[in-house]
Amino acid sequence: MAVFISKNEINKIKYSSDIVDVISDYVILKKSGNNYFGLCPFHTEKTPSFAVDPSKQIFHCYGCKTSGDVISFLMQIESISFVDAANKLSMRYGIIISSDNKTHNKAKEEYSKKEKMLEINKTALSFYIENLKEERAVDARKYLLNRNINREVSDEFSIGYADSQWNSLLNLFKKKRIDLGLAEKTGLIINKNGRFYDRFRNRIMFPVFNIRKEVIGFGGRVLDDSKPKYLNSPESILFDKKKTLYGIEKAKECSRKAGEIFIVEGYTDVISLFKHGILNSVATLGTALSKEHVRLLKGFVKKIFLVYDSDAAGLSAAKKSIAIFNNEFVLAKFIVLKEGYDPDNFLEKFGVDSFYKASTKALDSFSFMMESQIKINGDSVEGKVATISELAAYLSLISDNLARSLYVKKIAEKMEISERVVLDKVNKKLNDDLKYNKPVKNDFSLLQEKANLTGMEKLEKKIIGMMLQNKKILPEIIYRKVIEKFQNKELKDLGKKIINFKSDDVNDFLLNISDLKQKSIIAAILIYDENWSEKNCFKLINQFEASHNIKSIRNSNDLLKQIKTAESKKDHKLLLKLLGDWQIQVNKTAGINVESAGDKFI
Ligand code: CTP
Ligand code: MN
Repeated sequence: MAVFISKNEINKIKYSSDIVDVISDYVILKKSGNNYFGLCPFHTEKTPSFAVDPSKQIFHCYGCKTSGDVISFLMQIESISFVDAANKLSMRYGIIISSDNKTHNKAKEEYSKKEKMLEINKTALSFYIENLKEERAVDARKYLLNRNINREVSDEFSIGYADSQWNSLLNLFKKKRIDLGLAEKTGLIINKNGRFYDRFRNRIMFPVFNIRKEVIGFGGRVLDDSKPKYLNSPESILFDKKKTLYGIEKAKECSRKAGEIFIVEGYTDVISLFKHGILNSVATLGTALSKEHVRLLKGFVKKIFLVYDSDAAGLSAAKKSIAIFNNEFVLAKFIVLKEGYDPDNFLEKFGVDSFYKASTKALDSFSFMMESQIKINGDSVEGKVATISELAAYLSLISDNLARSLYVKKIAEKMEISERVVLDKVNKKLNDDLKYNKPVKNDFSLLQEKANLTGMEKLEKKIIGMMLQNKKILPEIIYRKVIEKFQNKELKDLGKKIINFKSDDVNDFLLNISDLKQKSIIAAILIYDENWSEKNCFKLINQFEASHNIKSIRNSNDLLKQIKTAESKKDHKLLLKLLGDWQIQVNKTAGINVESAGDKFI
């Protein structure tokens, strides 16, 4: 079904959206001057080259050259259509657009569903917190105190209690006339054979917040050793575990200042660290660390400490994260605590100084790999073979030759074998990989600026920028037929559009371009603020004309050669044609109207 959103409506959406706000959901942005900078979400990079300009409502990555406006950002980051992106924004900013549009209605529904689910979670959160203060929560409070979580800390983390009734929360929902179907989607109540009941019963409730401090889920812990220890909210449109980190809303600011963050495994680890004054820590939610997690974090820290249990499961989880850290160019350090300890009981037992001491001894990813592999495989012959081949596989992923050879040396020393043996293994792995590796296609290649623009095209691009930033020059451009002389088709087309565009507002113009590639070109041009004085405008046009003429003369030289050849071959027909072409060139260079002048001379 074709969906139509009028230009007017699109403008309304874009004008009412806040590009910084929207992009902040995906990228941690820092203000610098008038613009905001962050790590580009469209390619992997170490230093921020992704700029957002709020005054023009555009973004541009100096690295991968992706640029555009708020709608194209959403289209790319969410892989959705133009209409879906527009709808999403219209919902977010409460812009009413044509109501007989099905996609729009669906987006609207989804959005309000999300809002309502957040509201339901909020209701449950207050309920659980209040509950913890009640008589029936005496055991829960005792349990928390036993774990050194006092009132202050439990308030800080909004910890609550779900009592042992099967319908406490359900009744509250009913009383508040909450849509039970939606409440079920949050996972707070469960429908069994047509009857609803509370999911969480007799559990300490740890709410999970997103970066905007909205409750998106809960983890509920039993008060004893029964199983399962934790029950969590199911995944939903609100709760995506691979994108969520427990404690992020609190850790964000402090991590940014410290430039580093601790990733731990459990809710209680984050709480313990917090109690001991370490505010820059987050936990994964019982799932593996994902690239989404790392991408989120690397927006505000330079270094990530991974503190996983030193049991087999913890080691294997930590090992899996190495590839992610490497791919994302994040400096990761691994803190291995004494066997049998997690950050929580380590801190309780040895105190915060010991924890800091352990963090100064944190291993880089290679040393961590080596140590844990040796630990897992043991030092029997088979164990050593297994260890070396795993390490070789890892080394084959390191592109830096020097680093690789240093690591080879380290393995050889540590395992008391010759460097040659290790090196052979690594090389074999490298060769195998080369055989099967296929080049990866970049999804954004479409939007990438042609890096090797010709000199003429560069000037043309400059002229487009000038035309956008100083509309007063347009009559001159039209009079001197500048756009007609453009070589780059895309830029020529853009130039014509600018000339035909009525409004003076550049943003207006950008908003009216629907072609992603053209949008990208404009945004890339606009991100460089240039002041186009009249003098500079004329200078540029003159420069362009001069280059154009030189180019034409060069073409003429080619033509002359061809003419000479035709003459010597006595090809009269060709000669006549070439002479005609030559005359056209001459006229062009002289600025004479080609069409009318052409006939006269032949
Ligand atoms: N987890 C879970 N479900 C379980 C066990 C664990 O979702 N049945 C998740 C929780 O997010 C938990 C994390 O995995 O915080 C780490 O597990 P664990 O170390 O066992 O929990 P702790 O947070 O250390 O809890 P506690 O100290 O109370 O045992
Ligand atoms: Mn624990």
